Amino acid sequence: MNAIYEKLIRCRKAVNAKIKFKPEVALILGSGLGDYADEMQVEESLEYSDIGGFPISTVAGHEGRFLFGYVKGVPVVAMQGRVHFYEGYPMSDVVLPVRLMGLLGAKNLILTNAAGGVNVNFQPGDLMMITDHITTAVPSPLIGPNLDELGTRFPDMSEVYDKGLRKMIKQASKNTGVPIQEGVYMQFTGPNYESPAEIRMCRTWGGDAAGMSTACEAMAARHMGLRVCGISCITNLAAGMSDQPLNHKEVQETADKVSRQFKSLVTETIRLMGEEA
Ligand code: HPA
Repeated sequence: MNAIYEKLIRCRKAVNAKIKFKPEVALILGSGLGDYADEMQVEESLEYSDIGGFPISTVAGHEGRFLFGYVKGVPVVAMQGRVHFYEGYPMSDVVLPVRLMGLLGAKNLILTNAAGGVNVNFQPGDLMMITDHITTAVPSPLIGPNLDELGTRFPDMSEVYDKGLRKMIKQASKNTGVPIQEGVYMQFTGPNYESPAEIRMCRTWGGDAAGMSTACEAMAARHMGLRVCGISCITNLAAGMSDQPLNHKEVQETADKVSRQFKSLVTETIRLMGEEA
């Protein structure tokens, strides 16, 4: 068996030995959603460190556990903390958690993150529904022997962010009164912020937001047939768009400021997913 798939199966066994909960929706909590547990009726939780071989974040302030529970009656597994490519993990480890949540039974995946606004019409604090992505700056998580057990060698990526789920996010925006922008997310490697020239390139290519996660997870999830959607919290104007140098503190502060709105948008989206099921 392929070593990457073997590790995934080992992780699934470790989770199944401890957790009986079967999720329908998987949710990755980015900056601003760290306390999303408030919105959940948490039934069980599992520290990543209790899963042998599971990649663990090295970023200060990033937590590391799965929460299993209900959001508006919908069974959800949420990740408090994710690992990033810039931490030095191979892509196969970066996307292992998404694949694992798929194997645990989740059908829909909601990705969230903090991102820099590249579109000149975006303001810090805006929320952006991801309509598509550009991943040219990072290696594909599907490089290497194909995991035939999960999906095909050459998966289609013409609709990574599911139309039906996008419609739900827009409906959730209407229902909650939380405004939402739309745009294309471009993943960079990080950990450094981009240069102004890179941001100009991103804009020329059609990018609206720049970040350091998410698109690789979306690709791995599509490969195995999950329905994917994503929302970015625009925490700052991207490099070169203001006189201010970028810093992590600003990113966190903006994310915390819109946390309440972000949470209510995600919760309403999950409720709508439950209505559809
Ligand atoms: N660039 C990349 N990632 C980010 C940014 C940014 O400007 N802001 C928050 N995450």
